[in-house]
Amino acid sequence: MTVGVIGLGRMGSAVARRLAEKGFELVLWTRDREKLGKVAKELGAEAASSPREVAEKADYIHIVVSDDHALYGVTIGPEGVLSAQEPTTIINQVTCTIKASTSIAGVASSKGFGYVEAPIIGGPRTVERGEAIIPCSSDDEEACGAESLLALGSVVYLGRPPKALAAKLGFNHVFLGIVSALADAFALVEAYGIEWENYVNLVLSKTWLSGIVARYGDRLRLGGKTSFAAKLAAKDARYVAEALAELGLDASLAAAITNHYAAMIREGYGDADYPSVAGFFAMLGRKLREGKAKN
Ligand SMILES: NC(=O)c1ccc[n+]([C@@H]2O[C@H](COP(=O)([O-])OP(=O)(O)OC[C@H]3O[C@@H](n4cnc5c(N)ncnc54)[C@H](OP(=O)(O)O)[C@@H]3O)[C@@H](O)[C@H]2O)c1
Repeated sequence: MTVGVIGLGRMGSAVARRLAEKGFELVLWTRDREKLGKVAKELGAEAASSPREVAEKADYIHIVVSDDHALYGVTIGPEGVLSAQEPTTIINQVTCTIKASTSIAGVASSKGFGYVEAPIIGGPRTVERGEAIIPCSSDDEEACGAESLLALGSVVYLGRPPKALAAKLGFNHVFLGIVSALADAFALVEAYGIEWENYVNLVLSKTWLSGIVARYGDRLRLGGKTSFAAKLAAKDARYVAEALAELGLDASLAAAITNHYAAMIREGYGDADYPSVAGFFAMLGRKLREGKAKN
């Protein structure tokens, strides 16, 4: 079976690596030609010249680009997957809006393509180990049993789209919010002269929050390796706010969480790992104290 992967960022590369390891024949495309050549060579895969060429060669196409804009481009764009003559099956793994998924599902169906919504819960390393949790939605339940999808982790069928996306956005809301709350706490204690690392060691780690701070560990600090970028965290929180607002539900918490990560983008930390929003806010709290001390 030939499997396509579109988008070779942190997550797309991990998906491609896992599928190559499991023996799938791969055809790859990403916007950055240099990266495409490098990953294709490393994995012994074919490099396609467009998303359409991927669709012409693959039975299943995993799409792992960043956001709605990129997703629209690689699907309904002029060289997109849905411009291929022969229908195939799209596995949408982008954390996108419910609106984008629903409209692409509609175009796919009108052209006879299969459509699977299969967002990923877990980071790139989890995917490489085949241990991701994948909420899955499709009009055809069997499509969620695609071998290349099962190779990435545990697939949970939730019914027709956009149920899987609603589940994924809900999950992200919780963990992005937890780190946002830690960010506020760190800013507060730093502003009053307690170093956040001491606060973690002396207080939080002695409470029921110990599991959470231990889980994030050094990822709460600015300057580490990025696994999931703050700019994508801002995007996901914004998508949650949009989804809630479209239903007429209260989106104020999601909007506040969006603002936390957006502040990182504004200050040039958009590519930093998302949990370092806590270290970033600690820095703001510290600056506040230092500023007051000077005055
Ligand atoms: N990283 C994680 O831990 C994680 C976990 C769960 C879900 N996700 C989701 O997985 C998706 C990918 O995340 P990631 O971490 O791999 O992001 P990333 O490292 O920033 O990679 C983004 C990918 O999107 C492509 N892209 C961006 N703009 C594009 C455009 N206009 N047209 C075509 N391609 C475009 C990039 O292509 P080039 O690099 O070739 O330019 C790259 O392949 C996102 O929806 C994210 O929310 C990520």
